[in-house]
Amino acid sequence: MPEDFTVTPWEVTGDIDYDELQKKFGTTPIDDVLLDRFAGYGKLHPMLRRGIFYTHRDMVPLLNEYDKGNKFVLYTGRGPSGNTHLGHMMPWIFNKWIQDTFGVDMVFQMTNDEKFLFKDLTLDDTTSMAYENALDFIALGFDPKKTKIILNTKNVDKLYPIALSVAKKVTFSTAKAVFGFDNSTNIGSIFYTAMQSAPAFLPSVDAGRQVPVLIPCGIDQDPHFRVTRDVAPGLGFPKPALICCKMMPGLSGEDKMSSSDENATIYTTDTPKAVKKKVGRAFTGGCVSVEEQREKGGNPEVCSVFKYNYYMFEHDDEKINELAQKCRNGEILCGECKMCLTQKINVFLEDHQDKREKAKDVIADMTYDNFEW
Ligand code: TRP
Repeated sequence: MPEDFTVTPWEVTGDIDYDELQKKFGTTPIDDVLLDRFAGYGKLHPMLRRGIFYTHRDMVPLLNEYDKGNKFVLYTGRGPSGNTHLGHMMPWIFNKWIQDTFGVDMVFQMTNDEKFLFKDLTLDDTTSMAYENALDFIALGFDPKKTKIILNTKNVDKLYPIALSVAKKVTFSTAKAVFGFDNSTNIGSIFYTAMQSAPAFLPSVDAGRQVPVLIPCGIDQDPHFRVTRDVAPGLGFPKPALICCKMMPGLSGEDKMSSSDENATIYTTDTPKAVKKKVGRAFTGGCVSVEEQREKGGNPEVCSVFKYNYYMFEHDDEKINELAQKCRNGEILCGECKMCLTQKINVFLEDHQDKREKAKDVIADMTYDNFEW
Protein backbone atom coordinates (compact mmCIF):
# COMPACT_ATOMS: atom_id res chain seq x y z
CA MET A 1 0.00 0.00 0.00
CA PRO A 2 1.43 3.41 -0.90
CA GLU A 3 2.13 5.64 2.09
CA ASP A 4 0.22 8.88 2.24
CA PHE A 5 2.61 10.55 4.61
CA THR A 6 6.27 11.51 4.72
CA VAL A 7 8.35 12.01 7.84
CA THR A 8 12.01 12.94 7.46
CA PRO A 9 14.11 15.50 9.34
CA TRP A 10 13.39 17.97 6.52
CA GLU A 11 9.88 17.21 5.49
CA VAL A 12 6.76 16.21 7.38
CA THR A 13 3.60 15.96 5.28
CA GLY A 14 0.34 14.06 5.06
CA ASP A 15 -1.73 12.15 7.51
CA ILE A 16 0.83 10.63 9.82
CA ASP A 17 0.23 7.08 11.00
CA TYR A 18 2.38 7.11 14.12
CA ASP A 19 2.16 3.38 14.75
CA GLU A 20 3.23 2.68 11.21
CA LEU A 21 6.10 5.14 11.56
CA GLN A 22 7.26 3.44 14.74
CA LYS A 23 7.35 0.14 12.90
CA LYS A 24 9.15 1.61 9.94
CA PHE A 25 11.77 3.33 12.10
CA GLY A 26 12.07 0.36 14.45
CA THR A 27 11.56 2.21 17.73
CA THR A 28 9.88 0.65 20.77
CA PRO A 29 6.45 1.67 22.08
CA ILE A 30 6.31 3.24 25.53
CA ASP A 31 4.16 0.65 27.30
CA ASP A 32 2.50 0.65 30.71
CA VAL A 33 5.47 -1.03 32.33
CA LEU A 34 7.75 1.79 31.23
CA LEU A 35 5.16 4.40 32.21
CA ASP A 36 4.96 2.87 35.71
CA ARG A 37 8.69 2.99 35.93
CA PHE A 38 8.71 6.68 34.94
CA ALA A 39 6.06 7.34 37.56
CA GLY A 40 8.51 6.08 40.17
CA TYR A 41 10.71 9.16 39.58
CA GLY A 42 7.99 11.83 39.71
CA LYS A 43 4.42 12.58 38.70
CA LEU A 44 4.03 11.49 35.08
CA HIS A 45 4.06 14.35 32.63
CA PRO A 46 0.78 14.60 30.66
CA MET A 47 2.75 14.19 27.42
CA LEU A 48 3.70 10.71 28.65
CA ARG A 49 0.29 9.86 30.05
CA ARG A 50 -1.37 10.91 26.80
CA GLY A 51 0.99 9.12 24.46
CA ILE A 52 2.41 12.28 22.88
CA PHE A 53 5.88 11.05 23.79
CA TYR A 54 5.09 7.57 22.62
CA THR A 55 8.14 5.69 21.42
CA HIS A 56 11.77 5.17 22.45
CA ARG A 57 15.11 3.48 21.99
CA ASP A 58 16.95 1.97 24.97
CA MET A 59 15.12 3.81 27.76
CA VAL A 60 15.31 0.73 29.97
CA PRO A 61 19.11 0.35 30.05
CA LEU A 62 19.37 4.13 30.50
CA LEU A 63 17.14 4.03 33.58
CA ASN A 64 18.97 0.96 34.90
CA GLU A 65 22.22 2.90 34.75
CA TYR A 66 20.54 5.91 36.36
CA ASP A 67 19.34 3.73 39.22
CA LYS A 68 22.92 2.61 39.77
CA GLY A 69 23.95 6.26 40.10
CA ASN A 70 25.20 6.71 36.56
CA LYS A 71 23.42 9.90 35.51
CA PHE A 72 22.70 10.62 31.90
CA VAL A 73 23.07 13.94 30.10
CA LEU A 74 20.10 15.33 28.17
CA TYR A 75 20.60 16.45 24.62
CA THR A 76 18.13 18.19 22.35
CA GLY A 77 18.29 20.94 19.76
CA ARG A 78 16.76 23.36 17.35
CA GLY A 79 17.38 24.21 13.72
CA PRO A 80 17.01 28.00 13.69
CA SER A 81 15.05 28.83 10.56
CA GLY A 82 12.52 31.32 11.89
CA ASN A 83 10.64 32.39 14.99
CA THR A 84 9.93 29.80 17.64
CA HIS A 85 6.39 28.45 17.55
CA LEU A 86 4.44 26.28 19.96
CA GLY A 87 5.38 23.15 18.04
CA HIS A 88 9.04 23.77 18.88
CA MET A 89 8.27 24.51 22.52
CA MET A 90 6.31 21.32 23.09
CA PRO A 91 9.28 18.90 23.26
CA TRP A 92 11.37 21.48 25.13
CA ILE A 93 8.72 21.58 27.85
CA PHE A 94 9.11 17.83 28.15
CA ASN A 95 12.90 18.17 28.31
CA LYS A 96 12.48 20.56 31.21
CA TRP A 97 10.37 17.97 33.01
CA ILE A 98 13.10 15.37 32.50
CA GLN A 99 15.77 17.77 33.75
CA ASP A 100 13.78 18.59 36.88
CA THR A 101 12.69 15.02 37.54
CA PHE A 102 16.11 13.43 37.12
CA GLY A 103 18.29 16.40 38.10
CA VAL A 104 20.50 16.06 35.04
CA ASP A 105 22.78 18.23 32.93
CA MET A 106 21.73 19.23 29.46
CA VAL A 107 23.13 20.40 26.14
CA PHE A 108 21.01 22.26 23.60
CA GLN A 109 22.37 22.35 20.06
CA MET A 110 21.53 25.25 17.74
CA THR A 111 22.18 24.10 14.20
CA ASN A 112 22.67 27.37 12.32
CA ASP A 113 24.85 25.41 9.87
CA GLU A 114 22.01 22.96 9.12
CA LYS A 115 19.47 25.61 8.25
CA PHE A 116 22.04 27.50 6.18
CA LEU A 117 22.73 24.34 4.17
CA PHE A 118 19.16 23.15 3.75
CA LYS A 119 17.22 26.40 3.39
CA ASP A 120 17.45 29.56 1.40
CA LEU A 121 18.91 31.50 4.32
CA THR A 122 22.26 33.18 4.98
CA LEU A 123 24.46 32.12 7.86
CA ASP A 124 23.84 35.53 9.42
CA ASP A 125 20.10 34.87 9.26
CA THR A 126 20.30 31.49 10.93
CA THR A 127 22.76 32.75 13.54
CA SER A 128 20.57 35.62 14.63
CA MET A 129 17.56 33.31 14.66
CA ALA A 130 19.54 30.96 16.87
CA TYR A 131 19.88 33.74 19.43
CA GLU A 132 16.16 34.52 19.30
CA ASN A 133 15.23 30.83 19.56
CA ALA A 134 17.63 30.32 22.46
CA LEU A 135 15.73 33.00 24.43
CA ASP A 136 12.57 30.92 24.14
CA PHE A 137 14.41 27.83 25.27
CA ILE A 138 15.91 29.60 28.30
CA ALA A 139 12.55 31.19 29.17
CA LEU A 140 11.17 27.73 29.89
CA GLY A 141 13.30 27.70 33.03
CA PHE A 142 16.13 25.27 32.37
CA ASP A 143 18.61 25.29 35.21
CA PRO A 144 21.31 27.78 34.10
CA LYS A 145 23.94 25.90 36.08
CA LYS A 146 23.13 22.61 34.44
CA THR A 147 22.35 23.67 30.88
CA LYS A 148 24.68 24.67 28.06
CA ILE A 149 23.73 26.02 24.65
CA ILE A 150 25.86 24.93 21.72
CA LEU A 151 25.99 27.00 18.53
CA ASN A 152 27.51 24.83 15.82
CA THR A 153 29.64 27.48 14.13
CA LYS A 154 30.91 28.82 17.47
CA ASN A 155 31.64 25.51 19.19
CA VAL A 156 33.20 24.01 16.11
CA ASP A 157 36.55 23.43 17.84
CA LYS A 158 34.90 20.90 20.16
CA LEU A 159 32.35 19.49 17.72
CA TYR A 160 34.44 19.13 14.59
CA PRO A 161 36.85 16.43 15.81
CA ILE A 162 33.88 14.35 17.01
CA ALA A 163 31.95 15.01 13.79
CA LEU A 164 34.99 13.92 11.79
CA SER A 165 35.20 10.62 13.60
CA VAL A 166 31.50 10.08 12.89
CA ALA A 167 31.79 11.15 9.24
CA LYS A 168 34.58 8.67 8.64
CA LYS A 169 32.21 5.85 9.58
CA VAL A 170 29.23 6.92 7.45
CA THR A 171 29.25 6.22 3.73
CA PHE A 172 27.44 8.22 1.06
CA SER A 173 25.28 5.21 0.35
CA THR A 174 24.10 5.13 3.98
CA ALA A 175 23.35 8.86 3.87
CA LYS A 176 21.40 8.35 0.65
CA ALA A 177 19.41 5.46 2.10
CA VAL A 178 18.64 7.19 5.39
CA PHE A 179 17.99 10.73 4.16
CA GLY A 180 17.06 10.30 0.51
CA PHE A 181 19.99 12.34 -0.81
CA ASP A 182 21.02 12.16 -4.45
CA ASN A 183 23.82 13.46 -6.64
CA SER A 184 22.36 16.96 -6.67
CA THR A 185 22.52 17.29 -2.87
CA ASN A 186 25.16 19.77 -1.72
CA ILE A 187 28.05 18.13 0.10
CA GLY A 188 27.50 20.16 3.29
CA SER A 189 24.10 18.54 3.71
CA ILE A 190 25.60 15.10 3.28
CA PHE A 191 28.12 15.80 6.05
CA TYR A 192 25.63 17.55 8.33
CA THR A 193 24.35 14.49 10.21
CA ALA A 194 27.85 14.14 11.68
CA MET A 195 27.39 17.56 13.32
CA GLN A 196 24.07 16.53 14.82
CA SER A 197 25.67 13.35 16.17
CA ALA A 198 28.51 15.19 17.88
CA PRO A 199 26.67 16.48 20.99
CA ALA A 200 25.58 12.91 21.74
CA PHE A 201 29.25 12.07 22.32
CA LEU A 202 30.41 15.41 23.69
CA PRO A 203 29.60 14.58 27.34
CA SER A 204 31.79 11.48 27.09
CA VAL A 205 34.63 13.43 25.47
CA ASP A 206 34.39 16.15 28.11
CA ALA A 207 34.27 13.72 31.02
CA GLY A 208 36.86 11.31 29.62
CA ARG A 209 34.57 8.36 30.32
CA GLN A 210 31.42 6.84 28.80
CA VAL A 211 28.53 9.12 29.76
CA PRO A 212 24.97 7.95 28.91
CA VAL A 213 22.92 10.42 26.89
CA LEU A 214 19.16 10.77 26.44
CA ILE A 215 17.73 12.61 23.45
CA PRO A 216 14.08 13.69 23.72
CA CYS A 217 12.96 14.85 20.28
CA GLY A 218 10.32 14.79 17.58
CA ILE A 219 10.10 11.42 15.82
CA ASP A 220 11.21 13.18 12.60
CA GLN A 221 14.74 13.41 14.04
CA ASP A 222 15.08 9.66 14.53
CA PRO A 223 16.89 9.06 11.19
CA HIS A 224 19.83 11.19 12.37
CA PHE A 225 20.12 9.30 15.59
CA ARG A 226 19.92 5.91 13.95
CA VAL A 227 23.15 6.90 12.26
CA THR A 228 24.56 8.20 15.56
CA ARG A 229 23.67 4.97 17.34
CA ASP A 230 25.09 2.80 14.59
CA VAL A 231 28.51 4.40 14.73
CA ALA A 232 28.70 4.80 18.53
CA PRO A 233 30.16 1.39 19.50
CA GLY A 234 32.88 1.60 16.85
CA LEU A 235 33.96 4.95 18.28
CA GLY A 236 33.91 3.75 21.89
CA PHE A 237 30.85 5.77 22.91
CA PRO A 238 27.57 4.54 24.43
CA LYS A 239 24.61 4.59 22.06
CA PRO A 240 22.37 7.53 23.01
CA ALA A 241 18.87 6.61 24.20
CA LEU A 242 15.92 8.30 22.52
CA ILE A 243 12.44 9.28 23.57
CA CYS A 244 10.34 10.62 20.72
CA CYS A 245 7.14 12.58 20.38
CA LYS A 246 4.47 13.10 17.79
CA MET A 247 4.41 16.38 15.91
CA MET A 248 2.43 19.31 17.31
CA PRO A 249 -0.54 19.72 14.94
CA GLY A 250 -1.24 22.94 13.07
CA LEU A 251 -4.36 25.03 13.61
CA SER A 252 -5.49 24.34 10.05
CA GLY A 253 -5.97 20.66 10.78
CA GLU A 254 -2.57 19.63 9.40
CA ASP A 255 -0.66 16.99 11.33
CA LYS A 256 2.29 19.28 11.89
CA MET A 257 2.47 22.94 12.82
CA SER A 258 4.53 24.54 10.12
CA SER A 259 6.11 27.96 9.76
CA SER A 260 5.10 28.05 6.11
CA ASP A 261 1.47 28.40 7.18
CA GLU A 262 1.74 31.50 9.35
CA ASN A 263 -1.96 31.85 10.03
CA ALA A 264 -2.14 28.36 11.47
CA THR A 265 1.00 28.72 13.57
CA ILE A 266 1.31 30.41 16.94
CA TYR A 267 4.65 32.05 17.55
CA THR A 268 5.97 32.80 21.01
CA THR A 269 6.13 36.48 20.08
CA ASP A 270 2.51 36.73 18.89
CA THR A 271 0.29 39.43 20.38
CA PRO A 272 -2.96 38.49 22.14
CA LYS A 273 -4.81 39.89 19.14
CA ALA A 274 -2.90 37.70 16.69
CA VAL A 275 -3.58 34.63 18.83
CA LYS A 276 -7.27 35.44 18.96
CA LYS A 277 -7.39 35.78 15.20
CA LYS A 278 -5.49 32.56 14.52
CA VAL A 279 -7.45 30.47 16.99
CA GLY A 280 -10.63 32.09 15.71
CA ARG A 281 -9.93 30.71 12.25
CA ALA A 282 -8.79 27.30 13.45
CA PHE A 283 -10.06 24.07 11.95
CA THR A 284 -12.47 22.35 14.34
CA GLY A 285 -14.59 19.26 14.48
CA GLY A 286 -17.80 21.30 14.57
CA CYS A 287 -20.86 21.21 12.35
CA VAL A 288 -21.89 23.87 9.84
CA SER A 289 -24.74 25.23 11.91
CA VAL A 290 -25.30 25.77 15.62
CA GLU A 291 -28.54 23.80 15.47
CA GLU A 292 -26.87 20.82 13.87
CA GLN A 293 -24.03 20.90 16.37
CA ARG A 294 -26.37 21.12 19.37
CA GLU A 295 -28.12 18.10 17.98
CA LYS A 296 -25.28 15.94 16.63
CA GLY A 297 -22.32 17.23 18.64
CA GLY A 298 -18.77 17.89 17.43
CA ASN A 299 -15.79 15.65 16.85
CA PRO A 300 -12.85 16.41 19.17
CA GLU A 301 -10.73 13.74 17.46
CA VAL A 302 -10.16 15.88 14.38
CA CYS A 303 -10.38 19.29 16.06
CA SER A 304 -7.20 21.34 16.21
CA VAL A 305 -8.53 23.38 19.14
CA PHE A 306 -9.06 20.20 21.12
CA LYS A 307 -5.62 18.96 20.13
CA TYR A 308 -4.03 22.13 21.48
CA ASN A 309 -5.68 21.50 24.81
CA TYR A 310 -4.63 17.88 24.70
CA TYR A 311 -0.99 18.49 23.73
CA MET A 312 -0.19 21.56 25.78
CA PHE A 313 -2.86 23.64 27.39
CA GLU A 314 -5.01 21.40 29.57
CA HIS A 315 -2.98 19.27 31.93
CA ASP A 316 -5.92 18.02 33.97
CA ASP A 317 -7.10 14.65 32.64
CA GLU A 318 -10.56 15.00 34.13
CA LYS A 319 -11.05 18.37 32.51
CA ILE A 320 -9.87 17.18 29.11
CA ASN A 321 -12.27 14.21 29.22
CA GLU A 322 -15.07 16.50 30.26
CA LEU A 323 -14.29 18.83 27.36
CA ALA A 324 -14.35 15.96 24.87
CA GLN A 325 -17.65 14.75 26.32
CA LYS A 326 -19.27 18.18 26.19
CA CYS A 327 -18.13 18.59 22.60
CA ARG A 328 -19.55 15.23 21.55
CA ASN A 329 -22.84 15.99 23.30
CA GLY A 330 -23.20 19.34 21.60
CA GLU A 331 -23.09 21.06 25.00
CA ILE A 332 -20.13 23.25 24.10
CA LEU A 333 -19.80 24.97 20.73
CA CYS A 334 -16.67 25.86 18.80
CA GLY A 335 -16.86 29.58 19.50
CA GLU A 336 -16.78 29.07 23.25
CA CYS A 337 -14.03 26.49 22.99
CA LYS A 338 -11.92 28.79 20.84
CA MET A 339 -12.35 31.58 23.35
CA CYS A 340 -11.16 29.36 26.20
CA LEU A 341 -8.11 28.22 24.27
CA THR A 342 -7.26 31.78 23.19
CA GLN A 343 -7.31 32.81 26.80
CA LYS A 344 -5.11 29.91 27.92
CA ILE A 345 -2.57 30.56 25.18
CA ASN A 346 -2.49 34.27 25.93
CA VAL A 347 -1.98 33.70 29.65
CA PHE A 348 0.89 31.36 28.79
CA LEU A 349 2.43 33.76 26.28
CA GLU A 350 2.21 36.80 28.51
CA ASP A 351 4.28 35.03 31.14
CA HIS A 352 6.57 33.50 28.54
CA GLN A 353 7.29 36.82 26.83
CA ASP A 354 8.22 38.29 30.18
CA LYS A 355 10.64 35.42 30.89
CA ARG A 356 11.95 35.67 27.35
CA GLU A 357 13.02 39.26 28.02
CA LYS A 358 14.75 38.20 31.23
CA ALA A 359 16.53 35.41 29.36
CA LYS A 360 18.66 38.11 27.71
CA ASP A 361 20.43 38.60 31.04
CA VAL A 362 21.42 34.96 31.48
CA ILE A 363 22.06 33.81 27.92
CA ALA A 364 25.74 34.76 28.10
CA ASP A 365 26.23 32.46 31.10
CA MET A 366 24.59 29.52 29.40
CA THR A 367 26.74 29.20 26.30
CA TYR A 368 28.96 26.16 25.91
CA ASP A 369 32.62 27.07 26.51
CA ASN A 370 31.36 30.64 27.09
CA PHE A 371 31.16 31.56 23.44
CA GLU A 372 29.90 35.05 22.69
CA TRP A 373 26.86 35.57 20.46
N1 TRP B 1 17.72 19.07 13.28
C1 TRP B 1 16.94 19.67 14.32
C2 TRP B 1 15.95 20.68 13.69
O1 TRP B 1 15.86 20.84 12.52
C3 TRP B 1 17.80 20.37 15.31
C4 TRP B 1 18.51 19.44 16.27
C5 TRP B 1 19.86 19.32 16.43
C6 TRP B 1 17.91 18.55 17.19
N2 TRP B 1 20.16 18.42 17.39
C7 TRP B 1 18.98 17.91 17.88
C8 TRP B 1 16.60 18.22 17.51
C9 TRP B 1 18.73 16.96 18.88
C10 TRP B 1 16.34 17.28 18.48
C11 TRP B 1 17.41 16.65 19.16
O2 TRP B 1 15.21 21.32 14.41
